[in-house]
Amino acid sequence: MKNLKKILALALAALCVFAFAACGSKSSLTVEQGKLIMATNATFPPYEFYEGDKIVGIDAEIAGLIADKLGLTLEIADIEFDSIIPGVQSNKYDMGMAGMTVTEERKAMVSFSDSYAKGVQVVIVKEDSAIVSLDDLKGKKIGVQQSTTGDIYASDDFGEENVTKYANGNLAVEGLKGGKVDCVIIDNEPAKAYVKANAGLKILETSYADEDYAISFNKQNTELQEKVNAALKELIADGSVQKIVDKYISAQ
Ligand code: ARG
Repeated sequence: MKNLKKILALALAALCVFAFAACGSKSSLTVEQGKLIMATNATFPPYEFYEGDKIVGIDAEIAGLIADKLGLTLEIADIEFDSIIPGVQSNKYDMGMAGMTVTEERKAMVSFSDSYAKGVQVVIVKEDSAIVSLDDLKGKKIGVQQSTTGDIYASDDFGEENVTKYANGNLAVEGLKGGKVDCVIIDNEPAKAYVKANAGLKILETSYADEDYAISFNKQNTELQEKVNAALKELIADGSVQKIVDKYISAQ
């Protein structure tokens, strides 16, 4: 009787182990089989923006080539910039790709691919602005895109009370044009695109901060991170990434 109980207990334990193992191995490479779902915020030319109803740009095209290499179909979700990291953390999306700067704070929340591009934070002002250098920004009203590094640095350096946070870069530039803010701090390439699209604006000669852009992943999904890194390496080595960058950046 005692033995039977022991055997039963052992059998039960073994069953539990199998059940757990089965659950553990269920996890697949991506959230939805066969798809690579990229979260972005498509108000950020030339990295991601709309051409008609299609999201195009450097990030969109690089992601397309990565998906091809992985045998997956790319799907792009256009969401608020500050929803990208939470969405990747909760496995709603496979990866975040949005001209996103690698920072220590973000590295605590998600893992990053190797860097595929460099960014610089710059200052956009009106052509006739009295602001000529970074020192002139003290006490001025600064417009930024909410939760971007421009927002974080400006709030640190010039005081949160002087920083107006807009949902996206377009709206920040509208704020500058309408005189609601005295300048906009944002990444250099989008800044060039905004200045080109809006008369009467210019970019200050002095740049504010240098950064690396990378793709973000759920910390648990090291398999996807490794596969994307391997694909990215090949695409950088064979010149595909540079070709995409040239297409969008020299075309401006
Ligand atoms: N590089 C900046 C950051 O990581 C801004 C990125 C904004 N990207 C976008 N797609 N709206 O914070």
